[in-house]
Amino acid sequence: MYKILMTYNNVEGLDSLFSNKEFKIDVCNKPSPEEFKGLVKDCDGLLIRSEVKVTAEIIESANKLRFIGRAGTGVDNIDKALATKKGIVIANVPGGNTISAVEHTIGLMLSLARNIPEAYKSLKSKKWTRKNFVGTELFGKTLGLIGLGRIGTEVAKRMRAFGMRIIAYDPFVNSDLAKNNEIEIKMNIDKVYRDADYISIHSPLNDNTRGMINADAIKKMKDGVRIINCARGPIINEKDLCYAVKSGKVKGVALDVFTKEPPEDWTIIDMENVIVTPHIAASTEEAQVRIAQEMSGVIIDFFTKNIIRNAINTPNKCQ
Ligand code: MLT
Repeated sequence: MYKILMTYNNVEGLDSLFSNKEFKIDVCNKPSPEEFKGLVKDCDGLLIRSEVKVTAEIIESANKLRFIGRAGTGVDNIDKALATKKGIVIANVPGGNTISAVEHTIGLMLSLARNIPEAYKSLKSKKWTRKNFVGTELFGKTLGLIGLGRIGTEVAKRMRAFGMRIIAYDPFVNSDLAKNNEIEIKMNIDKVYRDADYISIHSPLNDNTRGMINADAIKKMKDGVRIINCARGPIINEKDLCYAVKSGKVKGVALDVFTKEPPEDWTIIDMENVIVTPHIAASTEEAQVRIAQEMSGVIIDFFTKNIIRNAINTPNKCQ
C-alpha cells in the first residue's frame, strides 16, 4: 500500500484516489514545518498546494518519498534541485486552473479601470458619490504581458476582444502562437515597460524573475501605468512598488499574490489605489475539481502503472 500525505483538506474530485485500495491517504491541513517533518517520514508521496513549503529539511526527513504532486501550477514552493537529486518526481497540473487565473486577472484589470472595489465600499457605507469614481476605458489601451505561457496567452485573446493592443515579453515565446493571436512580441522587456498602459505579470517565479519588477523597471514604465500580478508575489519588489504608487508614477495596482503569504508587511495592502485579493485567482469550483481529478490519475498511474505524467523534473514516460 502506498502512503500519500495530503497537506490540504479539500478532497473534492479526489474520489478515484481515495477509493483506490492501493493507497492510504493521510490528510493534514497546512502542517507546520515541524509537524510536516514528522509526517513525511514514511510517506511514498505528497499531495500539496502552495501553502506549504517542501524545503530541503522536509525532503531530507522523508525516508521513502518518490513523488510530489502539486495540485496546481507553480512549483516554486518545492526544493526542486534536491528532490531531483534524490530521484523524487515532481508533477503538477498546469492547465487545470488556467481559465480561472485568466478570468481573475481580467476581473482585477476591470476593477482597476473602473474603481469597482472603491465604488462598492463607498456605496455600502451609504455614500452616493459618483464623481469620485470616474473610470477609464480599456478600449484602445496597450496591455503589456510579462510572460506568454498558457495564462498570458488566454488573457491576450480575451483582451483583444476589449479592443486592447497586446504586447508581450517572454524569453521562451512561441512566435506563431503570438502572431495568430495578434500579440506583438517585444524581444526587449524595456519596450513593454515603455509602451504599456497596463502591465500584467504571468511568469513563473525563478532566479530570473525574482524581484524583476523593481525601481529600475518601474522607472522605465509609462507615467500612470497600472500593474496586475496574479502570478507570484516575489516577482515584484513590494517596497519599490509602494514608493512608485505613493509618487503617482504607478496609478493603480491589483495584487492577488504577495511577497509573504499571509502577508507580514501590510503596507502595500493598506495603500490607496491598490486593490487586493488573497491568492484566489485559481480558486474556482471548476478549477479545483479539474485539478483534483487530473492529479488523482497522475498519482495512480505513477504508483500502480509506473507511468510518469506531468513531471517537471524528469521526462514523462512509461517505465
Ligand atoms: C497555482 O500555482 O496553481 C496557483 O497560484 C494556485 C495556488 O498556488 O494555489
